[in-house]
Amino acid sequence: MRLRLAHELLDDDEGTPAEIERGLGDLWWINRHLGGVSSWRRLWTRFLGVSPLPAEPLTLLDVGAGTGQVMEANTAWLRHRGLTVTAVALDRRLTHLGVDVPALAADANRLPFADASLDLVTCNLFLHHFHDQPGEPVASRLLQEMLRVARRGVLINDLERSWWPYLAIRAMSPGFSRLTRHDGPRSVAQAYTRRELEVLAGGSGAARFEVLRLPRYRLGLILWPPEAQHAAL
Ligand SMILES: C[S@@+](CC[C@H](N)C(=O)[O-])C[C@H]1O[C@@H](n2cnc3c(N)ncnc32)[C@H](O)[C@@H]1O
Repeated sequence: MRLRLAHELLDDDEGTPAEIERGLGDLWWINRHLGGVSSWRRLWTRFLGVSPLPAEPLTLLDVGAGTGQVMEANTAWLRHRGLTVTAVALDRRLTHLGVDVPALAADANRLPFADASLDLVTCNLFLHHFHDQPGEPVASRLLQEMLRVARRGVLINDLERSWWPYLAIRAMSPGFSRLTRHDGPRSVAQAYTRRELEVLAGGSGAARFEVLRLPRYRLGLILWPPEAQHAAL
């Protein structure tokens, strides 16, 4: 399927407060029922298999977090495995951040954290908003910024661009809000393919990376920060 870059309405709050709330509700439904939360478990299992985390307090930042519900599901899963995780949700839009989660309104391109100051950095359904353009390597810069602040790993979960999820989300559209009917198919159409993700990750400066095919047309990307940052542990 050909890449088609598009503007997404939820990103710029292009709707009434009620429509934005419904759009965020749809996203959580999609994450819960269409493979978001379950594919994260696969991604974490792979990461922990390569880089076991110590039984000491750990910090996690979720970037482009929206309501933070996916972050909460991830931290609950990690805590269930005996890990002690303190997590913060970061989003550019204060209006998207949930009231029940530790949250911060900021731009993902300029994370307000020192180098190697967080153990883990994650993002979900976020990377597809960023694509390198000639003279404007926005996606590469985003990966570099997440790597800059991470000590142990950056974990990314997003859609895989292909016709099946595109047709599926279009077929389900009548049940969704106006914003999701607009943004859903466009998100798939501007998602990465596995090969594109490998090329992007290869230029990120990570010490090592892995792209995983996850259930329900999701792709996972794990970036391990440069060795110098491991040394700071
Ligand atoms: C498709 S939503 C995904 C939200 C959440 N991760 C989820 O899976 O439910 C993308 C989110 O990224 C946020 N966003 C877009 N550009 C951003 C930026 N430059 N910095 C921080 N957040 C951004 C939007 O406000 C929106 O909440």
